Amino acid sequence: MKLKSKHLLGLEGLSKDEIEMILDTAESFKEILERPIKKVPTLRAVTVVNLFYEPSTRTRISFELAEKRLSADLVNFSTSTSSVKKGETLKDTVKNIEAMKIDMVIIRHQSAGTPQFLTRCLSSSIINAGDGAHEHPTQGLLDIFTLRRKYRKLEGLRVIIVGDIKHSRVARSNIWGLKSMGASVAVCGPNTLMPCEIEKMGVDVYSNLDNALEGADVVNVLRIQLERQKGGLLPSLREYSIEYGINVERLKRLNPNFTIMHPGPINRGIEITAEVADGPYSVILDQVTNGVAIRMAVLYLLSGGEGKVE
Ligand code: CP
Repeated sequence: MKLKSKHLLGLEGLSKDEIEMILDTAESFKEILERPIKKVPTLRAVTVVNLFYEPSTRTRISFELAEKRLSADLVNFSTSTSSVKKGETLKDTVKNIEAMKIDMVIIRHQSAGTPQFLTRCLSSSIINAGDGAHEHPTQGLLDIFTLRRKYRKLEGLRVIIVGDIKHSRVARSNIWGLKSMGASVAVCGPNTLMPCEIEKMGVDVYSNLDNALEGADVVNVLRIQLERQKGGLLPSLREYSIEYGINVERLKRLNPNFTIMHPGPINRGIEITAEVADGPYSVILDQVTNGVAIRMAVLYLLSGGEGKVE
């Protein structure tokens, strides 16, 4: 079995079978990453460009490591050292890069829809590494992978996503992916940070965190985007922390064997206390570790690979 599209633009529309194929392939790569020699020749003939128009630590380094582990040739692009500074458009930039014979583009951009736009300009495979408030599919996949490794199956798991849902591409990708996998998903945050008609995505909506946490298995804590405070969407960080911060006291409402997730970067003491982020139920660094295997799986499958890797 193969993925239906040669691009990964989002988890919206990806079937359960396709998600499972990516997760199963990532399991094989995770095993390879635990070997003393973590490199395989799988993508030796493939050239990948990492096109990051927005800052990133985890996603950028994780994709770069995934490409290196697969023996792909890779090029890193950053706006600050490119001709974007001289006014070159995105379309001209990518068409010039593709003229140098590349196969795949990993794109992070502040504008939602940029990866989709690139599919119309280029013949390369396009992977969305986060576009505005739209989607961050590899983050959603690595979150689902981390949960499947712990709970074995997603069906019936109750996942609460807490924070700035309105501006969160991580929330959207998690909702699409988790729903496809049979989990029950709820979102919780202040009304000013909740998108209109979010319930149409098939999620329960809460503004009271303590009610939302009752009987949940997983809490995925989103980063408060500090720039939103200037827009008047948050009364104060202190008030946000009191109403929506995840602390040890609040964990008592969760089911036993619960899980705390965060995509990073963390604002310690605002959306999550250090004690919880570093505590025994946190899988935050496991998420980061698993991100490399997930990105290897996505690169492999989109470059035409099929099923399991030996
Ligand atoms: N989770 C995530 O996307 O982190 P970065 O912005 O550091 O890539």
